[in-house]
Amino acid sequence: MSTKAPEMTVSLAGVELRSPVIAASGTFGYGVEFEEIVALDRIGAFVTKGLSKEPMPGNPTPRIIETAAGMMNAIGLQNMGVRPFIEEKLPRLREIKGAVVIANIFGYTVEDCLEVIRALNDAEGIAMYELNASCPNTSHGGMVFGTDPGLLKELVTRTKEIAKRPLMVKLSPNVTSIGQMAKVAEEAGADAVSLVNTFVSLAIDVETRKPRIANVTGGLSGPAIKPIAVRMTHEASKAVKIPVVGMGGIIRAEDAVEFLMAGATAVQVGTASYADPRAVENITVGLKKWCASHQVEQVKSLTGSLIL
Ligand SMILES: Cc1cc2nc3c(=O)[nH]c(=O)nc-3n(C[C@H](O)[C@H](O)[C@H](O)COP(=O)(O)O)c2cc1C
Repeated sequence: MSTKAPEMTVSLAGVELRSPVIAASGTFGYGVEFEEIVALDRIGAFVTKGLSKEPMPGNPTPRIIETAAGMMNAIGLQNMGVRPFIEEKLPRLREIKGAVVIANIFGYTVEDCLEVIRALNDAEGIAMYELNASCPNTSHGGMVFGTDPGLLKELVTRTKEIAKRPLMVKLSPNVTSIGQMAKVAEEAGADAVSLVNTFVSLAIDVETRKPRIANVTGGLSGPAIKPIAVRMTHEASKAVKIPVVGMGGIIRAEDAVEFLMAGATAVQVGTASYADPRAVENITVGLKKWCASHQVEQVKSLTGSLIL
């Protein structure tokens, strides 16, 4: 048995990560809020809360509820806006040597997204972009970029044209064929795809007969969605050659291993940080231990190792 420590680094679209475990968007603030709790230079990377061209207040409350084995949220992409992020948060992040920052971007139109990318392009301290392609597009009757192949193609093509950093496209799981959407993103120039975002869901208070979330529907995340997310990660990884980043319900190291075996190059951890703010770091450490105890010398060898 090898006594050497397992090699945990992975390359994600040219970005070197010291571990394949990444903190997911919307569950890790802008990173700086977690610096006392989680060593940002020990986890693989973290993804910022979604950034828009202007600050956004989000949806009315209640907008988060717990469900069996998960949670529903309709935060509504509340955020401080891209310019305040660059001015108030990024300088501190740059000081944390070794922290890998992935900026999550969204907009209601393609132009909105382009404006966010233009602002970020000139800022130092960001390793890559994650484009949230599952946000509503008001100019197209409330449809979302991530569920319409034509819109997704346009969004990715135009953002890729101007992005000065690797572009990872975050796909919506609310589609019939995730493989098809991953392929559309790849053909339009995406350097990686990440999946899944949350599943559209509805919870009803049976006493009042009203939705439990003010927005009526919310996005379901957490362990409840994990087997669906693993299946989708597998389908996406079969459909494309670019790296796939898998997520959905990861709460322990073995969950991360499942996603890697299904075909993911790296994974993200979201909801678990709500139950335990140290979850991302614990899973990072746990994954290394898992590799050591299973004679896995290089974590990257797990990717796509599912035996059928
Ligand atoms: C409260 C909350 C806020 C989120 N905000 C964002 C966001 O701003 N942008 C984004 O791309 N995904 C966002 N997500 C989705 C997560 O990044 C992740 O894709 C999803 O929750 C599935 O992973 P999990 O089961 O580990 O949470 C959010 C999720 C939660 C629970």
